[in-house]
Amino acid sequence: MDAKKTIFSAPGKIILFGEHSVVYGHPAIVTAINLRTKCRVTESLQNKVQLSISSESSLNSSLTALKREYTMNKEQNVFFAQDSNSEQPVNPAYYFIAEKVLNLSASKKCPHIHVNSEIPPGIGLGSSAANSVATLASLSAFMGIELSLEELNGLAYEAEKIVHGRPSGVDNTISTYGGIQFYKEKKFSQLNIPKISSYVVIVNSGIQRSTKTYVEKVAKSLEKDTTKYQSILEEIGNLTTIAKSSLMEGNIQKLGNLMTQNHLLLEDLGVSHPILTDLTNLLVQLGSLGSKLTGAGGGGCVIGLFDNYQKANRAIEEMKNRDFQAVISSLAERGVQVEQ
Ligand code: MEV
Repeated sequence: MDAKKTIFSAPGKIILFGEHSVVYGHPAIVTAINLRTKCRVTESLQNKVQLSISSESSLNSSLTALKREYTMNKEQNVFFAQDSNSEQPVNPAYYFIAEKVLNLSASKKCPHIHVNSEIPPGIGLGSSAANSVATLASLSAFMGIELSLEELNGLAYEAEKIVHGRPSGVDNTISTYGGIQFYKEKKFSQLNIPKISSYVVIVNSGIQRSTKTYVEKVAKSLEKDTTKYQSILEEIGNLTTIAKSSLMEGNIQKLGNLMTQNHLLLEDLGVSHPILTDLTNLLVQLGSLGSKLTGAGGGGCVIGLFDNYQKANRAIEEMKNRDFQAVISSLAERGVQVEQ
């Protein structure tokens, strides 16, 4: 990371194939999307470590222009809200990151961390990982520490564990390195896909949920009926490997098909929701080649794959007419980067 620049951004992600099964060592295919978190660090004017968080997302109108201020409390290992009316506790990953970076640095500078995110939290788009990656990059640069991408990714993974319990590491890895990745057991390979016309429509179901809860739900199901659930996870893993070949061949029709099959398996796994299934069906009616939930499930987002920009745009309008926020993303957006 360039230690002279202190504004960085990092992308959110969508899992195209393999959520949940990736936690059990199967592969996933994941892409960075065009929604990002930006972080800027300045000298604190109050001589205390400060954190300001704001969001402005076209995927979640209720979060628009929300801004919260926090200060670091080292006795209690948290960032406290400065305004006492604030009910939303700040994500504890921020404390972990601030403490880690301040301890690594010999600098006496006192940082004010400004985080601005286009990625709504709790809807499966990797907002916590993007926030952690952007904050780590920006804060370490401000404090004069050079972190390699590998070190940054490792610290972001530690932060993810605080938030999600037992994450696979896929969210922080895609946010750090970007692109489109085949990810398996903390190792990833970038997929160099042929230039095909492909767009993903991301629709917010409006139902927030916690990744941790759904990862734990799958763990409990596995404990109760190991044979059944192991075989579903294996099937998702096999399908993901086939999807990799389809992607490399640019066979987008087949890819869409596989996405729909992946959604059905996630239903069997018990992580879907009737609204998610309705939205996936609607996306197919609107011309998508295939669609599925993305992320932990239970709510959050669904995605639909399109080979035509106009069609994808029309799908967005139709979703908005039905009061669902939706955006288009291309595949393989950039990982963490310096902003001007
Ligand atoms: C969360 O984005 C995806 C899950 O597979 C959990 C994980 O990979 O850590 C549900």
